[in-house]
Amino acid sequence: MPTHAPRTTHRTAAKLAPLLLQWFATNARDLPWRRTRDPYAIWVSEIMLQQTQVKTVIPYWERWMRKLPTIEALAKARAAKIHKLWEGLGYYTRVRNLQRAAQQIVAQQSACRRRGDEAQTKIGNQQSAARIRSETPHVVAYKFPENFDDILALPGIGRYTAGAISSIAFNQPRPIVDGNVIRVLTRVFGIATDPREKKTNALLWQLAEKLVTEAARLNSSRSSRRESAHASKSAIANRQPAATVREHGGSAIDQSLLTSAATSIGFCSALNQSLMELGALICTPRSPQCDVCPIKKLCIAQKNNLQEQLPNIAKREAATARRFIAFIVGRDGEYLVRQRPAGVVNAHLWEFPNIEATTERQKSAVPFQIISARPLCTIKHSITRYRITLEAWNATLDEASPQISGRWLNLAQLRKLAFTSAHKRVLARL
Ligand code: ADE
Repeated sequence: MPTHAPRTTHRTAAKLAPLLLQWFATNARDLPWRRTRDPYAIWVSEIMLQQTQVKTVIPYWERWMRKLPTIEALAKARAAKIHKLWEGLGYYTRVRNLQRAAQQIVAQQSACRRRGDEAQTKIGNQQSAARIRSETPHVVAYKFPENFDDILALPGIGRYTAGAISSIAFNQPRPIVDGNVIRVLTRVFGIATDPREKKTNALLWQLAEKLVTEAARLNSSRSSRRESAHASKSAIANRQPAATVREHGGSAIDQSLLTSAATSIGFCSALNQSLMELGALICTPRSPQCDVCPIKKLCIAQKNNLQEQLPNIAKREAATARRFIAFIVGRDGEYLVRQRPAGVVNAHLWEFPNIEATTERQKSAVPFQIISARPLCTIKHSITRYRITLEAWNATLDEASPQISGRWLNLAQLRKLAFTSAHKRVLARL
């Protein structure tokens, strides 16, 4: 099995790119973040889409863009607001990093502007600079960085996300490799080694880079054809000999692709998205729809009936079962809740008082004296490798209980807080 890209790969990439672009032009889903090229909006979508399905993300993304439409709005938002907007998506480090990155962009660009202002003032233009500042309304737009390394340096942005933003928002030839892309590439190129191994992972990035580079080449070929077409029209109008259309060196491209409105987004953007889209719609983990796949003729897995064996990912260790007991303590229409501390899973989110029911800890860890309890509901869910059962009990406190830490809030107040997803489901039962 090859662990470096052989020369034939160049030829395969050259054949794959136009097929993928053509397919994407007519099969791409109409997703809301595909209707914009605002890098901020695309960045938010990419962070939400990590570990979360497209159909779940759509309403979250739409609400987020209504409430926090700019980098500046995000940078200035209260922590409670961003957590509430993220509530239910999980992996809350993502949203905190998103805000830290926005704050970093705003701080850096504000510092640059202040330095610019000072320089202008020093030049001797003091009066007019002050007048311009006082007369100009305070309109300051902060720009998402365009440079790949600047994007990569932001908190919460790794190689995949930097590649996705650079290619989708700025049409730069930067590769992306995520779960969907891994599935497509391992199958097409017949890569049977584990994609999580270093060498195989490096090979996948190389292949993704070849494809997006080929797309960039087609993109410039499209631009020069458009210019030639424009020149021909002008030549006819001026009754001069038309310039010959410059040929590109690669495979034949359907003329409609070069002029298609659907691919007006730029070929690097479209190529990367086509890989993700093919993985999501056709080249699925089980029962892929090879009969309608646009690249089936070039696919090694299809030729050798290896679709179900690839990608060859080592089995994960079995999930661990954990059981928690939550106490729903009510008093005069208010309920006792607490906020999870920083540095733990689901940090800063709210929950009902609860304990993990392990045999050694079960009794001693109950945070207060209970005189009676009735079962309310049982919630089952999974976080990372844990299969969690949360049993919620309506509990009555012993008045003589020592001071309890937490807050007493009514239902309307509770609904404004960001709860962990399991406790949000308990809240819905009250
Ligand atoms: N998964 C990750 N990024 C995506 C995107 N831009 N569109 C659809 N699915 C995705």
